[in-house]
Amino acid sequence: MEFTDLTRTRRSVHQYADTDIDDDTLSAVFEDVRHTPSSFNLQPWEFLVLRGDDLARLQSVAYGQEHVTDAAAAVVVLGTLDPSDHAERVTADLLEKGYLPSEDAAEARLDTVASLADADDETRRVWTVQSCSLAAMALMYAAWDRGVASCPMGGFDADALHDEFGVPDDYEPVLLVTLGYPADDAPDVERDRKFRRETDEFVHFDDFDPAARGSPAADG
Ligand SMILES: Cc1cc2nc3c(=O)[nH]c(=O)nc-3n(C[C@H](O)[C@H](O)[C@H](O)COP(=O)(O)O)c2cc1C
Repeated sequence: MEFTDLTRTRRSVHQYADTDIDDDTLSAVFEDVRHTPSSFNLQPWEFLVLRGDDLARLQSVAYGQEHVTDAAAAVVVLGTLDPSDHAERVTADLLEKGYLPSEDAAEARLDTVASLADADDETRRVWTVQSCSLAAMALMYAAWDRGVASCPMGGFDADALHDEFGVPDDYEPVLLVTLGYPADDAPDVERDRKFRRETDEFVHFDDFDPAARGSPAADG
C-alpha cells in the first residue's frame, strides 16, 4: 500500500473477522518492525504475542475491553528498563561498520549507556517507552499494510499484567496492540475518520508559543 494510503486508512478497529492471522504474515510484520529506530540503537522492545485462550487472560487485565477476545491476536509491547541489555553487540557493530571512529569512542558509548542504566526509574521508563512506542506504531502500519487491522491500548493494569503473564519487574508494559482482519461491517472502518487537528494548529515553525496551546490557528 502507498504510505499515504496506509496512514489515511488505518483505524483503531474493535470488530474483527473470525479469521486467524497465519504465522508467515505475523513473521513478515515483525520483520518490518525490526527496522524501527531506537535510542542508541539499543532496541529495547520485546513482543509477547497472545492468541486463543490467552486473550481472555489479557482481557482480564485490560479492564474487560471486549475487542481483546474478538481479536485474532494481541501483542503486549514490553520495554526493558535496562539500557545495557544489548549494548555490547550494538556498540561492536557500530565500531565495525565505521559509525564509531575508534575503540575509545566505543568505550565512551558504553559508558554513556552504563550511566543511563544507573539512572532513576522514571528516566529509564521514559527511555524505553520512547523507542517501544515507535515500534508499536511500526507494528500497526506493518500489519495494516497486509490487511491486518489493529487497536493500540493503554487501558490495562500494568501490575496485574506483570502478575498474570509472569513479566519480570525490569520490563515495562508499554502498550497492548490487538490484531485481526476487520469484520465485514466494522463501523471503525466504515465511518469517516475521527476529528484530526489541522497541521497549521500543531506545527510550529521557528518558535513555540504556549499561549496558542489548544486553540485553533489565529486565522482559523
Ligand atoms: C496510547 C494510546 C492508548 C489507547 N488506548 C486505547 C484503549 O485502551 N482502548 C481502545 O479501545 N482504544 C485505545 N486507543 C485508541 C484510540 O482511542 C484511537 O487511536 C483514537 O481514538 C483515534 O482513532 P483511530 O486510531 O481510529 O484514528 C489508544 C490509542 C493510543 C495511541
